[in-house]
Amino acid sequence: MISSSPSPLIPIIILLLLCIPTLFYLAPHILPPPPPPPITFPDELEDLTLFRRATVVDSINPSKSKPKRLGSTNLKPKIAFLFLTNSDLQFAPLWEIFFDTNSSKSSNLFNVYVHADPTVNPKVKIPGGVFTEDRFIPAKQTRRGTATLVAAARRLLATALLDDPNNAFFTLVSQHCIPLHSFKYFYDTLFEVNSHQVAELRHLKYKSFIEIVSKDQFILDRYNARGKNVMVPEVPFDKFRMGSQFFTLTRRHAVVVVADRRLWKKFRLNCLRPNSCYPEEHYFPTLLSMKDLKGCTSYTLTRVNWTDSVDGHPHTYYPNEVSKELIYELRKSNFTKPYMFARKFSPDCLEPLMNMANDVIFRD
Ligand SMILES: *[C@@H]1O[C@H](CO)[C@@H](O)[C@H](O)[C@H]1NC(C)=O
Ligand SMILES: *[C@@H]1O[C@H](CO)[C@@H](O)[C@H](O)[C@H]1NC(C)=O
Repeated sequence: MISSSPSPLIPIIILLLLCIPTLFYLAPHILPPPPPPPITFPDELEDLTLFRRATVVDSINPSKSKPKRLGSTNLKPKIAFLFLTNSDLQFAPLWEIFFDTNSSKSSNLFNVYVHADPTVNPKVKIPGGVFTEDRFIPAKQTRRGTATLVAAARRLLATALLDDPNNAFFTLVSQHCIPLHSFKYFYDTLFEVNSHQVAELRHLKYKSFIEIVSKDQFILDRYNARGKNVMVPEVPFDKFRMGSQFFTLTRRHAVVVVADRRLWKKFRLNCLRPNSCYPEEHYFPTLLSMKDLKGCTSYTLTRVNWTDSVDGHPHTYYPNEVSKELIYELRKSNFTKPYMFARKFSPDCLEPLMNMANDVIFRD
């Protein structure tokens, strides 16, 4: 017999109906935010055009990147400083002393390029300084945990490649980085000699300073951050590497990075879990270790303190921690070369750092 009593399901259905609005209210509070939109096609196309031009410059006229040519024109190789920022360049006054062209006679030994997120208007106005308007390259928006940071670094590399054939090294820094030595010290360390002649002979043997790490507790998470089996076949797991975003690349490697399309196709994909993605810490070490591991030192020249890191951010130094001893400590390294730069420093460290710029930081 069919029961005439109300179905026991009805109260449950009513309860569920009541729950739906609550779910709509709660969902945005419980679920993680949706991933940011991918890099747009027009942006990608614009970059590709720039990268092609930068790649062609060295391949059409390879002698330009060779020491012979530098010697014959009597031009010394330069270091291109690539500033990647999405805020004020708070340490610009300190960098001005670093680059001080009067004391180190270094004016012809470096170039400065700045990629500033166009949604910010960084304050760096120092009359007569190195951060002039024309040092700001055409920039696009950058977001943490997305491939936009890789794209920005590649834009800086491409622009610097095109701008000056004498750019021999390319050093990436951010607004939170500070120098730990003078420019002259850094220059001599990179070129290893005081004599230009010897530098020329060694030119082709220069290595890139880029951290390359294959063992890390998070590396599998990072590998799968775009979904399972997404990175193959271009990047098998055993080829996937990790390392600091802050590097000093040789010209040869800068061209390799700008010319790459195969790995970029994968690394540019949206991260499903932005908190375990960080493409900029994987793209460069993976690409260069696949292409020319022997040409890399596998360590970075930028010191960072990961002790007690919070939410993927390293330890940030505040004014009360800034001292002569800290600078000396941060320079110490377990590798062949001491650290040249350090991060991250809060903006209000500028004053104590300026106070010891000449007597401590740039005295070496
Ligand atoms: C690194 O940071 C920790 C705190 O997170 C601090 O105690 C330590 O002194 C720092 N190390 C150096 C070398 O600055
Ligand atoms: C050098 O290696 C030692 C031993 O592994 C370690 O305790 C120390 O923190 C390292 N120093 C730096 C600057 O990384």
